[in-house]
Amino acid sequence: MAGNLLILGGTSEAMALARALADRSEIHAEMSLAGRTGHPVLPPMKHRIGGFGGVEGLVAYLERENVSAVIDATHPFAAQMTRNAALACDRLGVPRLIFTRPAWTPSEEDRWISVPDTEAAVDALGEVPKKVFLTVGRLSLPAFRRAPQHHYLMRSIDAPDQADCPPHTELILARGPFDVEAERALMVAHDIEVIVTKNSGGHATDAKLSAARALHRPVIMIDRPTVPVSRVVHDLVGVMAFIEAHRFKP
Ligand SMILES: NC(=O)c1ccc[n+]([C@@H]2O[C@H](COP(=O)([O-])OP(=O)(O)OC[C@H]3O[C@@H](n4cnc5c(N)ncnc54)[C@H](OP(=O)(O)O)[C@@H]3O)[C@@H](O)[C@H]2O)c1
Repeated sequence: MAGNLLILGGTSEAMALARALADRSEIHAEMSLAGRTGHPVLPPMKHRIGGFGGVEGLVAYLERENVSAVIDATHPFAAQMTRNAALACDRLGVPRLIFTRPAWTPSEEDRWISVPDTEAAVDALGEVPKKVFLTVGRLSLPAFRRAPQHHYLMRSIDAPDQADCPPHTELILARGPFDVEAERALMVAHDIEVIVTKNSGGHATDAKLSAARALHRPVIMIDRPTVPVSRVVHDLVGVMAFIEAHRFKP
């Protein structure tokens, strides 16, 4: 099949794929980034930054750029992009593959409270004031403003707007990977009683879960959003097999 490959990026999986394709000049591929973070780590391949303009914009892009397959390597919580990609690809008959990391699963020693979304996570904190470690991404922070009784230790890559922060919020700006001992020390130093996080999966940010387990702290775990059914792979071997199967030659 002749045509170009579009990789929807924004994750470490997408970056690993970019590295794997770096010396494969016969594969004509472009990566797309949303441009959310202030200092994005750019992939070592052709790339573009910014939204497409919804489903219609993406359809127009796929046609204009002669895209013959799409690899959706966006974050598991980037559900809008995944839905748009599904609709656009279905409309044009373009094959699509989701390349993502497996979700985290609790072990017997974990004390997880699974919730369907951020609003439910706020509810699960309860009325009694608590010291909360938040790693939900800065765009989810405003939801916690309606629970101002808690003290929040919020960690994100970029600083949230001050207006989005609940009244008692301390910020830590950091990008993973994090290690278990440092996570444990952080939780002890801040007297953390409960952790709120999204089930992103992957190893770069799972140290907090090990630390919470060791400290017997509960974790309010926001489940992944539901996205349209698709072929899903969790490793580079599966992605490369998909690419080879579609023979991206000029
Ligand atoms: N959500 C998270 O927790 C999270 C965490 C880490 C990294 N990320 C990464 O950050 C990016 C944005 O995440 P999000 O949660 O804001 O996504 P989202 O809610 O699913 O997407 C919102 C809109 O952002 C644009 N967009 C998203 N990903 C894009 C991409 N790779 N290329 C071009 N446009 C893109 C699209 O705009 P148009 O409709 O205009 O096309 C999309 O409709 C994604 O690439 C994702 O992988 C997200």
